[in-house]
Amino acid sequence: MAEETRPRVILGVGAGIAAYKVCELLRRLTESGHDVRVVPTRDALRFVGEPTWAALSGRPVATDVWSEVEQVPHVRLGREADLVFVAPATADLLARAAHGLADDLLTNTLLTARCPVVFAPAMHTEMWEHPATRANVATLRARGALVVEPASGRLTGADTGPGRLPEPSELFEVARGVLARTRSAAGRAAAPPADLSGRHVVVSAGGTREAIDPVRFIGNRSSGLQGYALARTAVARGARVTLVAANVTLPDPAGAEIVRVVSAEDMRQAVRKSADTADAVVMAAAVADFRPADYRDRKIKKSDSAGPEPIHLVKNTDILAELVAERPAGQVVVGFAAETDNVIEHGREKLARKGCDMLVVNQVGENLTFGTPDNAAVVLTADGGRVEVPRGPKEALADVVWDLVAARLR
Ligand code: CTP
Repeated sequence: MAEETRPRVILGVGAGIAAYKVCELLRRLTESGHDVRVVPTRDALRFVGEPTWAALSGRPVATDVWSEVEQVPHVRLGREADLVFVAPATADLLARAAHGLADDLLTNTLLTARCPVVFAPAMHTEMWEHPATRANVATLRARGALVVEPASGRLTGADTGPGRLPEPSELFEVARGVLARTRSAAGRAAAPPADLSGRHVVVSAGGTREAIDPVRFIGNRSSGLQGYALARTAVARGARVTLVAANVTLPDPAGAEIVRVVSAEDMRQAVRKSADTADAVVMAAAVADFRPADYRDRKIKKSDSAGPEPIHLVKNTDILAELVAERPAGQVVVGFAAETDNVIEHGREKLARKGCDMLVVNQVGENLTFGTPDNAAVVLTADGGRVEVPRGPKEALADVVWDLVAARLR
C-alpha cells in the first residue's frame, strides 16, 4: 500500500496489564497495512516496554509532549490520524479523557483528534461498574466516541466478571469496521457519521420468561448482548433509543431509555407503545413462541398429583408480524432469527413470512452466539440482498444493521 494511502492509526495504550494483548492488536494492524504510532501513557511502559512498541510499529514511541518538539507532536498526531484507538482504556484514562485533561501525549492527542476515537476499557468489575466510570463512559459516548463493552471472564487475579479486554482479533475487527465506515473517498477519515440523528429507534433485547407458577418459568438462553450492542451503537450514531429489555442483567447502555419487561405479552405492549413514534424497530429479543395456558398462582407441589402433570401451552402473538401489519409509513422493521441448520433457506422463508425489511440470521448452538461477545451473521433484505458479516464483536454486526437501516431511511 502506498505510504500516503495507508490508514494512520494512533494506538493509545493505558497502564493496565492487558497492554500485553495490545501487542497482538498492533501486529495485526501493521501486518494489514496500517501505519501505527503507539502512544502509551508513562505508566503503561511498566507493563510493556518502549522497545517492544517501537519494534512492532517500526515508529518512534513517546509518552510526553517534550520529544520532537519542533514537530509539535501533541497537535500533529491527533490532526493527521484516521483513527485513535485506546486499549486498554483504564478507569483513570477514561476519566482524564472525559474531563479533557491534557497532561501527556495521549490525552493531548485525544483533544486534537477529529477522527473516530475508540476506547476499549479493561479494569476490575467494581471499577467498571462504579458510577464515576459509568458517567465518564456516558460523556465520551455522548461526544461520539465508541466505547467498546469489556468482555466478561477471568480478570487479573482469581476473580471473574465484566472488565476483561476483548480479544485482539475482536479489537482488530472494531478498528477495521470503524475505518471502513468513516474513511472518505479522499482517503482521509471524517468524523463518525451521526446518520441516525433526529431518529427514534426501538430495540428489543434479551429473552422473555413465561411464568408457570410463582417460582418457575419457561425461558431461553438469550443474554441481551446483541440488543445492547444495537442500542449503544444507535446512541453513538445520534439516535434517540428506546431499549425494551427482557430479563437482561448487563449494565444499562449509556444514553438509551430502558423499559424492563418479563414476558412476551409485556414485551408486546412495551414495543407497540414506543413503536408508534419510531423510525425503526429492531426485534433482537428472543421472544417465547408459547406460554403456559394456565398460570398457577401457588407453587405446584410434587404431592399435587401422582405423576408429573403436563403443562399445556398456547401461542403468543408474533410481535414482529404484528408490527409489520400496523407500521406507520416509512418505518423500517428488522427481525432476528436464530437457526441451528439450513440457515439461509430458513432465513429467506422467515423473512417472507414475517414481512419485515430485513432479517439478521445467526447460527446458534451450544457455544455459538448466546452469551458470547462476538457473532457472525447474514443479513437478508426483502429486496433479495444478502450481507455476510464475518465473526466479530456484536457492535460490528450492530453497525452493519444500522448502515442498512440508515440507507433505507434516507
Ligand atoms: N418474534 C416476535 N414475537 C414472537 C416470536 C418471535 O416478535 N412471539 C420475533 C423475534 O424477536 C425475532 C423474530 O421474530 O426478531 C424471529 O423469531 P423466531 O422465534 O426465530 O421465529 P419464529 O417465527 O418463531 O420461527 P421458528 O420458531 O419456527 O424458527
